[in-house]
Amino acid sequence: MSKEPASSLVPSEVEGRGAKHASVAPGVGEGGACVARHVAIIMDGNGRWAKKRHLPRAVGHQRGVESVRRLVRAAREMGLEALTLYAFSTENWRRPEEEISDLMGLLKRFIMSDLDEFAANNVRLKIIGNYKAFPNDVIDLVEQALARTAGNDGVTLAVALNYGSQDEIARAAVRAAEKGPVTPETISAELDTADLPPLDLLIRTSGELRLSNFLLWQAAYAELWFTDVLWPDFKPEHLEEALSAFAKRERRYGGR
Ligand code: FPP
Repeated sequence: MSKEPASSLVPSEVEGRGAKHASVAPGVGEGGACVARHVAIIMDGNGRWAKKRHLPRAVGHQRGVESVRRLVRAAREMGLEALTLYAFSTENWRRPEEEISDLMGLLKRFIMSDLDEFAANNVRLKIIGNYKAFPNDVIDLVEQALARTAGNDGVTLAVALNYGSQDEIARAAVRAAEKGPVTPETISAELDTADLPPLDLLIRTSGELRLSNFLLWQAAYAELWFTDVLWPDFKPEHLEEALSAFAKRERRYGGR
């Protein structure tokens, strides 16, 4: 199990967490295993999944949305407090216009089809990144979904839209400087993720071993888990496998 946090920037083990794992103490599972509160995923491999099947990339993204749906349900059932998904990066604007438009369409359809389920199941939607750069119809839908789920206090589904970690840190540093001294703590307090539990586990699918400008600050003490599974094939069992591996890790936060 984790040793004492070294500063306020490392995960506190004394705050509350989701119901299912809270059998011993917050952040501690049966037998003293580490229990993740906040998991983030770089959902990669939609294009390769489609290519292997001689299908258009758009079909890979559609299947990717089905994985998102399964994973949100699983996260809720597993008692996670937050699931953060990298859906559209600041670099994704470099993709062909048609693919960008497919991704926007999928996001809209996802919100329209799943919002009732989120509302009914106490899922709070949150966006990280500057989604205001998206088309107005996407912004309107996102804002309706944010407003409708704002009072929910079950799992938070944080979707990264037009998100880049370096951009987030720069924005946070500017806001921190406007308020007073710039320190790691004051920057942390201004990050898009400031109201989420500390990041415990960062997963990337599809065999790529990079962070790709995702949650760089938050990943300082997160555990990393990589899998060759392509995102459309990612199932709740894979999340369970990652959480089991996480439970066996010894987190020292720079201490001994
Ligand atoms: C990476 O696959 C995936 C993306 C850039 C987008 C992820 C988006 C979704 C799963 C759908 C929309 C999300 C939500 C939350 C509704 P890639 O295209 O880079 O795959 P490749 O590396 O195999 O080409």
